[in-house]
Amino acid sequence: MQPIGIDLGNGAVKVRFGTTRLMIPNVISVGGMQPEYGEVSNPLDALNVVLDSPLVGDSRHWYIGRLAATQGAMARYMLPSDQKTLSQQSAILYLVGLAAAVVQHEFEVNGSTEPELEAELYAVSGASLVESFQKGTRRRFEDKLRGEHWVTFQDPSPWAGVTVHLRVYPRVHLEGHTAYLWLMRNIPSISTVLSTKPVIGLAEVGELSTEFPVFRGPNIEPALSSGAQFGTASVMDELLLRIRDFTQVPTAFAGGRMELERFLEERRDTVSLMGRTYHLRELIEDHLSAAAHSLYGLIREKWQRVPTIEQFWVIGGGAALFHSYLQRKAQQDHVMLNFLDDLSESRWLNAEGMYLIAQQGLKREFPELMQHAIQA
Ligand SMILES: Nc1ncnc2c1ncn2[C@@H]1O[C@H](COP(=O)(O)OP(=O)(O)OP(=O)(O)O)[C@@H](O)[C@H]1O
Ligand SMILES: [Mg+2]
Repeated sequence: MQPIGIDLGNGAVKVRFGTTRLMIPNVISVGGMQPEYGEVSNPLDALNVVLDSPLVGDSRHWYIGRLAATQGAMARYMLPSDQKTLSQQSAILYLVGLAAAVVQHEFEVNGSTEPELEAELYAVSGASLVESFQKGTRRRFEDKLRGEHWVTFQDPSPWAGVTVHLRVYPRVHLEGHTAYLWLMRNIPSISTVLSTKPVIGLAEVGELSTEFPVFRGPNIEPALSSGAQFGTASVMDELLLRIRDFTQVPTAFAGGRMELERFLEERRDTVSLMGRTYHLRELIEDHLSAAAHSLYGLIREKWQRVPTIEQFWVIGGGAALFHSYLQRKAQQDHVMLNFLDDLSESRWLNAEGMYLIAQQGLKREFPELMQHAIQA
């Protein structure tokens, strides 16, 4: 059995498996015919899969991630009303995320793969604060995910023909707590003071929501923790409308908010549309700074409600997106917000923490299997 961490993000699923790390946009569409594509070199751009699993019943054929996003109105994104532990979409991404990690790892280690792979996984994933605090939710989610599943990759994927037989031992933890575990391990200003039990707050800014878990020393304080309906998705959707209005090109960023997110992550600011180059920096700055203003308001509100928070950490993908604006506001107010030195790591903390927990849990629960895994 091997440990794996899988963060079922509403925007993108992040997986950590040994030395392998991968991310798949959380988009699906019903599959069917083989899409009309030539060769696709990045396997994660061509996730056309057939699933054999109690999780999907007869709906076996799916396009996932960027391939699904090309299916126009058929593409389904996560909605704020979706509950991760109940949604079929997150269950599908769970299986494909695990299987993709197994195949990618095989290529990274051996340079090739057999057509049939078997993997016995001790898989740690997460549920949000709101869902986790409903009694029994995490246990029910584990019961649903546990068991045997088969994932077969199809054309146009370079992995076409490969089937992964998964045997899954799932553990579901609290998102936010998993990120905090990573911080405790890796951030000296947290780990060195843990014995004095300072109160530490997180703002984890994700695609559909922002979570504010509060910790005292190593433990979460449920009564002080909360969530807010601020996510980067609506910020992106509105920015997309503004760009289309500004350029008068209604098909600009035809790949929707996913394409715009990529554009911003790459720090680009000019776009060529219908033979004309548009400079979008000013528009982007204006839009993001207004959104950051609202986010900063939420952080201040949280801090006012729990004034004993000594360190406030801003993490999640939104930390990278809004860092400069939040930092400017915090400086004006003479307060200190903490960010990772490497902002691009901000969105990976849950997956990394989940992997740490998986390593520990496997050792504790299955010591004999762990020895076997090391020898193998
Ligand atoms: N390095 C970066 N630069 C700019 N934006 C980024 C960066 N990393 C992530 N983002 C943006 O942050 C947003 C949220 O990313 P994140 O991966 O934390 O969300 P998620 O985990 O999928 O969602 P949720 O936490 O709501 O389930 C995305 O819109 C993404 O584009
Ligand atoms: Mg997240």
